[in-house]
Amino acid sequence: MQKFIVNGGRRLRGELALQGSKNSALPIMAASLLCGEDCVLKNCPELTDVYAASRILNCVGCKCSFSDNTAVISSGEITANTIPEELMREMRSSIIFLGAMLGRTGECTVCCPGGCELGPRPIDMHLAALRKMGTDIKESYGRIICRVPEKAHGARISLPFPSVGATENIILFAVTAEGETVINNAAREPEICDLCGFLRCCGAEISGDGESSIVIRGKEKLHGCEYSIMPDRIAGATYLCMAAATKGEIILTNACVDAMEPFLSVLEQTGCSIYTAEKRIFLRSGARLKAVNDRIRTMPHPGFPTDAQAVLMAALVTAEGTSVFEENIFDCRYRHTDALVKMGADVQVLGKIAVIKGVNRLYGANVEATDLRGGAAVTAAALAAEGVTEISSISHIDRGYERLEDAVSRLGGSIKRVYTNSTSTC
Ligand code: UD1
Repeated sequence: MQKFIVNGGRRLRGELALQGSKNSALPIMAASLLCGEDCVLKNCPELTDVYAASRILNCVGCKCSFSDNTAVISSGEITANTIPEELMREMRSSIIFLGAMLGRTGECTVCCPGGCELGPRPIDMHLAALRKMGTDIKESYGRIICRVPEKAHGARISLPFPSVGATENIILFAVTAEGETVINNAAREPEICDLCGFLRCCGAEISGDGESSIVIRGKEKLHGCEYSIMPDRIAGATYLCMAAATKGEIILTNACVDAMEPFLSVLEQTGCSIYTAEKRIFLRSGARLKAVNDRIRTMPHPGFPTDAQAVLMAALVTAEGTSVFEENIFDCRYRHTDALVKMGADVQVLGKIAVIKGVNRLYGANVEATDLRGGAAVTAAALAAEGVTEISSISHIDRGYERLEDAVSRLGGSIKRVYTNSTSTC
C-alpha cells in the first residue's frame, strides 16, 4: 500500500508542462483496435488506467509498447473477443472497448460495469444505440454478450443525455458500419473532438464533433496513423487549483486553453489573476481567495466540468465567504468532503448541493483518497494546510495523474510517496 505524506503551507511556484489527457487516451487506444495496423500515440500519459487499457488490448491480441510517452499499438490480429471481468472491473470506462471490438470483429462479450465510486454507472444508452445499429445483445449472469449477425448499419440516434462514453461508443461502432450515423444530443467534450481527430487521421469520415449533432459515414477499412493526444484539461485544472489554494504562481505549458475556458472563467472569480496565451496559462494568487458568488453547477461541456468540482472545492474551502456547488452529473461525487472536513473545512452536503463556508486555515490530518478527482482535491487541500497530512488509497490518484508527486515537487510543494504494509491509516 502506498501513501502520500504532504507537508503543507508552501506556495507552489514555477512552470509545469501538462500531461496528455487520460480521457482522450482511453477511447483513442480503443479506436486503434479498428485500424489493423500500427498506431503511434504521442503525448500518451503514463497512468494506471492507460496500462489497464493496454492490458485489455493485449488480451484481445494487440501488442502495445510504451516509451517516453509514446504508445505503439499493433492491432494486426485480433485473437479473442471476450474482455475478462477482472479487466472490466479494473477500469469502469473499459466499456468504451465494446463499440470498437464490435466494429472490428462483430462479436464481443463484456461484463456489466456495475457501480463505482461515483455511484451507479449505467450503460443503457450505449446498449440501446448499438442495438439500433444492428447488434444482438443478450445479458446473462452479469455478462453482456454482443453479436452483429449481419453487417452493422448506420442509424439516427438521439441520446436522452449527452453521455461522453455513449457518444464515444457509437462513434467507434459507426466509423466502419455501413451507411450514415447521426448522433443527436451528442456529448461535446473536447476529448470527443480528439477521438474524432484521431479517427479522421485513420481515414474515418466524421463531421460535427464539438457540436450537438455528429455525422459519421462508415468506411470499409481504416488504417494506422501517428497522432498526438491532447493535453489533460482536468490535470490542468488540478494544478491551477493547487497553486490557487497555496497562494502560488504557476505557468502551465502544453495547455489546452480553449478546452479549459469553462473552468478558467469560474476560477477567475476567486480573484486569481489568470492570463492565457497559445498553449500557456499563467496564474497568480497572492491574496486570500474570494468565494464564487454564483452557484457552480456541473454540466456537460461547455458547462463547468464535474471532474473539476472537487479540486475547485479544495481551493474554495479557505476562500473568504460562501460558495455553493450543484453536482448534476454523478450521484456520489462529494465523497472527498469528509476528508476536507477532517482537515478543518466547513462543508455541508445535501443531495446534489454542497455549501462551503470559507475557513481561515486547514490543518494536516490522516485522510483517504476516495476516488480519482477527490484524491487530487484532498492533495490540494493538504498542500494548503498547516502541518502534515497522510493520504492513503492513492492508487485512485495514480489512475489519472502522471507521477503527481514529481509534478508538485517541481513546483516547490513538499510531498513524498511512501510504501507501507498497513491496510488503513484513518
Ligand atoms: C466520462 C469521463 C468522466 C467524466 C464524465 C462526465 C472518461 C473516461 N470519463 O465518463 O471523467 O466525469 O464523462 O464528463 O472519459 N449515464 C446513463 N446511462 C448511460 C451512460 C451514462 O444514465 O448509458 C449517466 C451516468 O450515470 C452519469 C451521466 O450519464 O450520471 C454522465 O455519464 P457519461 O457522460 O457517460 O460519463 P462517462 O463517459 O462514464
